[in-house]
Formats: sequence, structure tokens, C-alpha cells
Amino acid sequence: MQAFEAFISEHLPKASSFHPHYEAALQAMLLAGGKRFRPALLLSVVRAYAPLMLESAYHAAYAVELLHTYSLIHDDLPVMDNAPLRRSQPTLHVRYNEVTAVLVGDALNTHAFEVLAHAPFSDRVLVRLIRALAQNGGASGMVLGQAIDCHFEGQALTLEQMKALHVNKTAKLIAASLKMGAVIAGIRVLEGPLYDFGIDLGLLFQIQDDILDVTQTPQVAGKTTQNDGNKNSFVTVLGLERVIEEADALACELHGRLENMDERLRFELSSLLHHYINRHKEHS
Ligand code: IPE
Ligand code: IPE
Ligand code: MG
Ligand code: MG
Ligand code: MG
Repeated sequence: MQAFEAFISEHLPKASSFHPHYEAALQAMLLAGGKRFRPALLLSVVRAYAPLMLESAYHAAYAVELLHTYSLIHDDLPVMDNAPLRRSQPTLHVRYNEVTAVLVGDALNTHAFEVLAHAPFSDRVLVRLIRALAQNGGASGMVLGQAIDCHFEGQALTLEQMKALHVNKTAKLIAASLKMGAVIAGIRVLEGPLYDFGIDLGLLFQIQDDILDVTQTPQVAGKTTQNDGNKNSFVTVLGLERVIEEADALACELHGRLENMDERLRFELSSLLHHYINRHKEHS
């Protein structure tokens, strides 16, 4: 992923002006790192089926990361999760102010689509990528999940409603990342199965995130933890013990599905997923 990090550094959003900190704030959370899980998923699919397109795919992987980073900046705002630490740095509303954090989020969201629009693919592929990112990261995807997450703080959802919350909030963007890899590689038959796998992988990712909220320190997590007390998180709804069992079961099922994938894809994905599928075990 070193080459991808270099790509990000070369394509940081730029907006020089007489504003004292706007441009630095635009770039800060991108430069702060993060796991780059969604880009890594997208790039694994491309590496498996169209390795010569890897560098072109960086545009799409970066677009997903931009949209995800915007979602984190807004997620941390006082009016949402009110978190002071992200990617081991003070959050933008703490380091600068709330206006800056809101506007940087807006800018990164738009910048995602600008970056994607400049990707060196055919118009037909570009439109399909833009649609996948917008559908899953926008009004009926991530944003819907965040709306439900925040609206129902302190109010218990049914298990089914809670699953819908987390599918929208987290799983759809993860599923879209895998699907976008298949779109770029031109393997249409894989788009659906990879998307479905990504939804379950995304649910596991959020279950683990909810576990780590109660088991990790902010220093280790690099972000504010112990912050889900009022949320319909998997831990608050099911309890830690049961949720670890659920995570183990889902991890096991995903391992099985990975084993049944085509060899090239299995090779690329398993080296990435081995760590992620089991990450809830490290600190619990
Ligand atoms: C955090 O995402 C928010 C969730 C959807 C769980 P990540 O855990 O991928 O955060 P970064 O990108 O590594 O900072
Ligand atoms: C946020 O979920 C998911 C997003 C869409 C950003 P969380 O609120 O659990 O993410 P963290 O724990 O703050 O990273
Ligand atoms: Mg949140
Ligand atoms: Mg949060
Ligand atoms: Mg969390």
C-alpha cells in the first residue's frame, strides 16, 4: 500500500488562499493515515483480475477513502459522536473549530467525485463507479445509517432495525469497495457476489469496531473509545460476551466463503482479510 499512500500524497485536495488554516485542515485527516481498509479491498480485486490496471484503480480507491474520511470527520462532530481523537490526532473541530470540520467534510465528499471523474477509465465504467459510490455512500447508504444511528440514541431498536442501521452506516461502503474493484476489472459476474460478501464483511467490521469501543484504550485505537453507551451498538444491545460469539461465528462463516472463492481472488483477499476477520480477538 506504499504506492497508494504516495498517490494520496500527490493528489491531496489543494485550495491555497488567504484563509489561515483551510487547506491544512482539508489535508490533515488524509495525512493522518488510517487503515485504508476500503481502498485495500478494491485494489485486491483489481490485483486479482486486472493487475495492469492497478495504478488507474488508485483513483477509485482514493475516492472511496475520501468519502470515508469525510464521514469520520462529520461522525466526530459534537452534534454527532462528540469525539476529540481520530487517527491519533485531535479531531478537526478540536484542532480548529466546528465550522472547519463541517466544511472540510463537505469538501472531501465532493472531492471524492472529482477524483473519480478524473480516473482513466471509459465513460461507461466511470458512470458505474460514480453510481456505486453515490448509492452506497450517500442518501440511502452511509448517510441513512448515520441518521438512524444518531436519531435512535437512547432508544432501543429491534435486532432487525439495528442490522439495517449497521448495513447502511458501514457495510454498504465496504461492499461498494469490492464491487468497484470488479467493475474496474470488468468481471461483471463477480459484482453481485462480491457486494453480498462485502455486506457481511462490513457487518463484521462494525461488530468488531463496537467491541473495540469497549475493549481498547484511545491510545491503542487512535480514536475516542468508550463512546457508544447511548448507541444501538452491537455491544450495548447484545452484551459483550454474546457479541464476541456472534463475531466469531461470522468470522468463521466468512472464512468459509473466502475458501470457496476463485483462486486468484482468494489469494489476494485472504492475505488482506486474515487479519481483519480476526481482529476482534486481539484486544478482547
Ligand atoms: C471507522 O472506520 C468507522 C467505521 C465504519 C467502523 P475505520 O476503522 O476504517 O477507520 P480508519 O479509516 O482506519 O481511520
Ligand atoms: C461510524 O461508526 C461509521 C461512519 C459512517 C463514520 P462509529 O461512530 O462507530 O465509528 P467510530 O467508532 O467513531 O470510528
Ligand atoms: Mg458514529
Ligand atoms: Mg463515532
Ligand atoms: Mg465505533
